[in-house]
Formats: sequence, C-alpha cells, structure tokens
Amino acid sequence: MTAAATGCRPIILIGLMGCGKTTVGRELSKMLAMPFLDMDAVIEEQIGKPIPAIFKDEGERHFRALETALLRYLVNDEGRGAPVISTGGGVIMREENRAILRKLGFCVWLDVDVDTLIARTARSNNRPLLLNTNRRAMLEKLSQQRAPLYAATAHLRLDSSRMDINTVVRSILSALQEHPNVPHEEFQQ
Ligand code: S3P
Repeated sequence: MTAAATGCRPIILIGLMGCGKTTVGRELSKMLAMPFLDMDAVIEEQIGKPIPAIFKDEGERHFRALETALLRYLVNDEGRGAPVISTGGGVIMREENRAILRKLGFCVWLDVDVDTLIARTARSNNRPLLLNTNRRAMLEKLSQQRAPLYAATAHLRLDSSRMDINTVVRSILSALQEHPNVPHEEFQQ
C-alpha cells in the first residue's frame, strides 16, 4: 500500500499519553512510505530542550501555544507531503487545535484504558504531567476530561487497549479506504 491509497491525506493520531501514537505512527509511515512527524519532537527541536524542561522553564501555557503554532503552520502548508502525524496527548484541549486537526487530516483516536496506559507509561520520565504524582489518579482525571474532546476531534475511534500494533495499523488502513473523502469533504463545505 502507498500514500496514494490513503488519498494522500495526512493521518493524525490522537489520544492520551501512552496510547501508542508514536509507535503506531512510525509503523504506518513505514508501511505507506509517508513521512512521519512527531509534534512533541518537532517542538523539542525548535526550542532546543526536552518537553519537561519546556514545561518547567516556560510553563504549560507556552507549550500549548507552541502546539497551536505548529498546527497553524501545518494546515497552511496543507499537510504537504501527507505525513503521518503523532500529536501530544493534550493537543485537543484548545478548540482551535481541534478544528485544525479535523481539517488537516484523517484523525484517529487510539482509545486505551487507564490500566494499559499506566503499564505503558511506567518507565517514562519525559512526561511532566505524570511526574511526582499519582499516575492512576492523573490518568483517570485526564481520561475523563479529555474523552469528549478526543471524540469531537476524531474521524475514527479505535478501542485499541487489547489490539496489537498490526491490528491497529490494519484497522486504520481499512477505515481510510472506507472513508475516501474525509477530510476533503469538510474542506469544501
Ligand atoms: C501531554 C502529552 C505529551 C506531551 C506533553 C503533554 C499531555 O505527549 O505533549 O507532556 O498533555 O497529555 P504524549 O501524549 O506523546 O506523551
């Protein structure tokens, strides 16, 4: 399968920390020979420091503004090169971001339960929102707050807690083929 089979649309992965956006994104980009863009990594490179340092030195608000600036750039560029995009888990919190994401590409919510998220983030120390806190309580809170926002942004929700990566990738590819006009249809409205 090639990028043409996806309608040359960017594929955008959204969901909570640890849901598999980066792993799935890398695999999709390999399979489709599409470039891979990890928003967190782009921001870290732009600012020249890791996300926890950006949160500490500039604050979360500034980080959120950087996410919006990057999305504005990508949508103005019309997703040129049709990348697979992995987002940061909180990107859906701003209304402007949600609107841009839906315009920019085919948005897939990797919906994963809190137990699985806890297991997958157990060894990570690059997520400021999960440092020095009760991870379960934090992830439960974020899941409750954000689920409606992921739902409002996604063209496809995948309940992927118990899916292996190949199943996730296959499900995304078949959904793309079933919905050849999303989000192009929305562009024309
Ligand atoms: C965040 C998720 C992180 C990163 C930042 C904030 C969030 O990305 O953007 O730490 O608010 O959920 P991942 O979802 O890739 O871990």
